[in-house]
Amino acid sequence: MSNEKQEQPKERWHRRVVEARLGTFALLTTVVISIGGIVEITPMFTAKLGPQPLAGVKPVTALELAGRDIYIREGCYVCHSQMIRPMRSELLRFGEWSRAGEYAYEHPFLLGSRRIGPDLMRVGGKYPDAWHFEHMRDPRSISPGSIMPAYAWLHRNRVDPADVQASLRAMARVGVPYTAADIAAAPAEMKQQGDSIVRNLAAMGIRTEPDREIVALIAYLQRLGRDGKAAIAAAAAASPRAGATSTAGGAPKPSGTVGQLDSGTSGRLPLSHSPAVHEGGGAP
Ligand code: HEC
Repeated sequence: MSNEKQEQPKERWHRRVVEARLGTFALLTTVVISIGGIVEITPMFTAKLGPQPLAGVKPVTALELAGRDIYIREGCYVCHSQMIRPMRSELLRFGEWSRAGEYAYEHPFLLGSRRIGPDLMRVGGKYPDAWHFEHMRDPRSISPGSIMPAYAWLHRNRVDPADVQASLRAMARVGVPYTAADIAAAPAEMKQQGDSIVRNLAAMGIRTEPDREIVALIAYLQRLGRDGKAAIAAAAAASPRAGATSTAGGAPKPSGTVGQLDSGTSGRLPLSHSPAVHEGGGAP
């Protein structure tokens, strides 16, 4: 008797109400699965994706953007990275390691994947404008034995402000905060910034014009990494414990991986081995 009872289980309500009705069951299944989908997908449309700008890092100027476009066109990223890793050798050679927030306005990122030449993330301000002018014209005249190609046409070609405005509009579309007023004022601003570089060059006996491609490229190279460096220094001054990983001795040692790398090696660093290498397979 008891066996028979076990073989015929009691009819439960969910069999009748849900499982026996194909349409209802399909509908409820869809609803339940959709909840998972909504939870996963909605944030992608509402949340701001990508790195948040580091306070103090601003989008490049119109002339610098023109230089950036030239940098991309000429494939400079094939030989140069723009990313300094938090390793002691890199800090010593290139300066502050790269923070995610420094790339917030970069479309596309120019991280690079090889270092046939040195990292350029913090090259801004490292050399005078005239250095870049000559180095781009003939790298070997500045760095003997350099394998970098010459880019002599940059000194002849002119930048068309209308192209730069189109570039600014494209950047604005993907979220870089250039306003319509910024874009309208671009040609005048480019002329102004170009003139100041032309004056710097003239002081070194070099004659050129503010609308040449080389002037835009110099503007871009001289901007690289400067905002980030200033922002990191400002953050360090504001809260010394969370500070920058300056390579100058005596800087506060931050916690985390960089701190670990720093500790123990300071003071007995084989400086004679620090790479003064200029070409070919410097840092991997
Ligand atoms: C074939 C690889 C190659 C390409 C392409 C290349 N470079 Fe270089 N670059 C080098 C090498 C190697 C050096 C180091 C020797 C020297 O100073 O010339 C260098 C050095 C530099 C330096 C000096 C960096 C420093 O800290 O001393 C700058 C600035 C630079 N390149 C900018 C550019 C720009 C801008 C472009 C694109 C227009 C470019 N390079 C394209 C290989 C390359």
